[in-house]
Amino acid sequence: SSVKVFAPATVANVVCGFDVLGFAVNEPGDEVIMRVTDKPGIVISKITGDDGRLPLDPTKNTVSVSVQHYLDSIGRGDIGLDIELHKKMPIGSGLGSSSASTVAGLFAIKTLMGDTTDPATLLPFAMKGEEMACGHGHADNVAPALMGGFVLIRSYEPLDVVRLPHPKDLWCAIVFPDVDVPTREARQIIRNKIAMKDAVTQWGNIAGLVSGLFMQDIDLIGRSMQDVLVEPVRSMLIPDFYKMREIAMSSGAVSFGISGSGPSVFAFTKDEETARSITQKLQAHLTGIKIGSNAYVSTI
Ligand code: HSE
Repeated sequence: SSVKVFAPATVANVVCGFDVLGFAVNEPGDEVIMRVTDKPGIVISKITGDDGRLPLDPTKNTVSVSVQHYLDSIGRGDIGLDIELHKKMPIGSGLGSSSASTVAGLFAIKTLMGDTTDPATLLPFAMKGEEMACGHGHADNVAPALMGGFVLIRSYEPLDVVRLPHPKDLWCAIVFPDVDVPTREARQIIRNKIAMKDAVTQWGNIAGLVSGLFMQDIDLIGRSMQDVLVEPVRSMLIPDFYKMREIAMSSGAVSFGISGSGPSVFAFTKDEETARSITQKLQAHLTGIKIGSNAYVSTI
């Protein structure tokens, strides 16, 4: 038997919640087709949409590695599997590209194994995939890719993941400027020590954002989305970041920031039309400075 699974892109951090907040979008995302074979071991028979950048070696690919961890945990480590990975989103974009692949793979094997437990039980395996992809097993992409919607990682040890509500008329505009920002490197440049004053600002904003999600108060969400810890450093890796913010905010965005570790940026809006017009203006600006881009508009 064979299954085909789609897992969505995700926006991690949501500006002020470094490593603890993330949400899933409707598109883009990745697709995995998986089938059980007679010959023990995992074979990655095909990868499309990656420009040859991802390894077919099952010991090096995050999809097969996390699937193998899952199989070992249920005592089926010697099963035969054929995996096709169809990347339908850019790699290294800050949109949780590796997470989308890993989560699609884990959901596929869970389905093939007839495992009916809560998908959240796959999280530790998905985090192993993240560890391999970028040197750190954060969950703010994999958790929303698995569970959908807005997710809070309240604690890593022990793992405590909470689904949050969100206003239904919240739209997200995403633009991916086509420059390379590997997550591994974007994590290395972040400061390790922070000032108490900055910590106070940051936790006020995180509490404000979460309150806004519960209260369906998009303006509170917007004014809480400020990051004094990570964005000041990472924005340097993104072409014209502050100019793009000015364009988005003066075009009706309620907030603007880096998606995950970048280079993608995103804006929240109150309607689809504003989200579309923001993506067009940002893309036009990037074209003007000779940088290609992709754009997506989604509800959450
Ligand atoms: N929270 C992670 C980071 C997400 O910002 O490094 C990576 O996409």
